[in-house]
This record gives sequence, structure tokens and C-alpha cells, in this order.
Amino acid sequence: MTEIQDVRGTAFIVAEFRAWENAAPHPLFVDPVVPIFLDARTRAAAERMVAGFPPGEWAVHLRTRYLDDHLDLQLTKGCRQVVILGSGLDTRGVRKAAPGVVYFEIDDKDIIDFKKARLKRAGFEAPIVFIAGNYVTDGLMGMLEANGFDRDAPSYVIWEGNTMYLTKPAVLGVLQALRRHVGRCAISMDYMSEEIIAGRTGDPRTSRFVEHFAEMGAPWRFGVDDLGALAGEAGMAVVDNAKLADLHHAYRPGRPLEGAFLDNYSICTLEPA
Ligand SMILES: C[S@@+](CC[C@H](N)C(=O)[O-])C[C@H]1O[C@@H](n2cnc3c(N)ncnc32)[C@H](O)[C@@H]1O
Repeated sequence: MTEIQDVRGTAFIVAEFRAWENAAPHPLFVDPVVPIFLDARTRAAAERMVAGFPPGEWAVHLRTRYLDDHLDLQLTKGCRQVVILGSGLDTRGVRKAAPGVVYFEIDDKDIIDFKKARLKRAGFEAPIVFIAGNYVTDGLMGMLEANGFDRDAPSYVIWEGNTMYLTKPAVLGVLQALRRHVGRCAISMDYMSEEIIAGRTGDPRTSRFVEHFAEMGAPWRFGVDDLGALAGEAGMAVVDNAKLADLHHAYRPGRPLEGAFLDNYSICTLEPA
């Protein structure tokens, strides 16, 4: 990777935020792998992005903790395949490796090549099947099955930091494909409110933070106000849904909430209805 820009570049910003949590006095998770992807340039880019706006960084910590917890739960329930869509520099395939469980990661070729090289250089070996491509335009099920995915095995899909960059038809297309073709499947994903996308939160710091993403060529385009309706259109049911503001209050009691961002950012888990 030469430039930290467009949607691929956001993977480095998120990875930085995640790495910073390692140094917190009471971290919500520990990620000893993610520093291998980072350097002074990624740090500077992340600092610029979140300057004076801690909720931007907290959001990544909260969603990471939620997804780590839900992955643990799915593994306990017998999940055998974990699919990570738009996986970026997600390290769960290493951190959460489990006997008999295969991880499938899909992302752009540049990101996948960079990630594989860094993992290899650092000596990390993990049961990860890396798939380079675009899961919206290249056909999600074809990509997975060409790489050994078994549609009948219990599966968990992590879709983190992606839906906001897509469109409603693209998001629905992914959910419908999973619903139609994967027998036993749960999917967790984060999503913005429509107010965030429209710049209507009334919180100038939140609006500025959103603008930073547009300026790096990664505008947020899709938000959800009625999750039940979206899930219903895909034949899915909502089994869990939380605003990041609520997770913040639960995990960080006593730390005041700043601005409107975490009230307009949610994370959920869906299963076939
Ligand atoms: C904000 S980053 C999040 C990365 C990772 N999920 C995380 O939370 O650390 C978004 C990532 O999704 C990838 N991505 C977005 N849309 C994609 C698509 N249609 N196909 C493959 N990768 C995609 C980008 O290349 C980028 O690495």
C-alpha cells in the first residue's frame, strides 16, 4: 500500500485505533497482532482523522469488543466457518484461531497481499483462506465456494466497518445471498443512522468526522433507521441490536459520552427468520 486513501485506506485507520486500545489501563480487548501492519504514516493518518474527537476512536473499540464477544459465542455454539467480509486488517483469524474452524477473509487484492506478507514476516500462521476480490460485484457465494466454503456447515459472518460505504441494494444483496445459500448462518454488522449519512445529527464534531472520510475518498453513503425492515426484506430476523452509545455506557461506566456519534452508530446480529 502506498497511499492511505479510499475505502481500502480506512483499514489502516481502524487498525491504528485498535492498536491504541492495547495501551489503555483497562482495555476492552487486546490485539497483539495488529501492530505488525502499522507505522508512523498510519499513525499520523489516524491522528488526523480523530483529532479532538475521541468517539471516533471509541467506536472501533466498542465494535471490536462486541464482535469478539459474539465470535466467542458462535464458536461455543459450534460454528465451523467464519467469513469476514471487507476484512481489512482484522486479526481475529489469528487471535481467535480454534481447532476445526476455518476463517475466510475477503478484501481487495492490495490489502490481502499486504496482510499476507506482514503476517508471514512476523511468523503468524493461521487457518485463514484469503480471497482477493469484491464481494459485491464478483459474486459472494461463488467466491466463497471456489475457495472451499461449505454452505452446509454452521457459519458466522462478520461484516465490520463496511455497510456505510455501500448502497442499500448492495447490502441487501449480501444478506439475501447468505440467507438463500447458507443453511446455518448468523451475521453481525455495524451500521450508521440515516441522520449521520445526511449530516443531520446537529452535532458539528460528528459532521466534521464524517467529512474526513469523504475527504479521503471513502464517503459514507448508506444508513439504516429501520433495521427490522431491512432484515425482513432479506428474510432475516434481528437477534441482537445495540447502539454503540449503550455499549459505551455498559463497558465504560462513568466516562461521559461526547457528541452524537455513538448514538447514531449501531451494531447488530441477524439470523435467518
Ligand atoms: C473500514 S475498513 C474495515 C476493515 C475491517 N473489517 C475492520 O473493521 O478492521 C473497510 C474494508 O472493507 C473493504 N471493502 C469494502 N467494500 C468491499 C467490497 N465490496 N469487497 C471487498 N472488500 C471491501 C475495504 O477494502 C477495507 O479494507
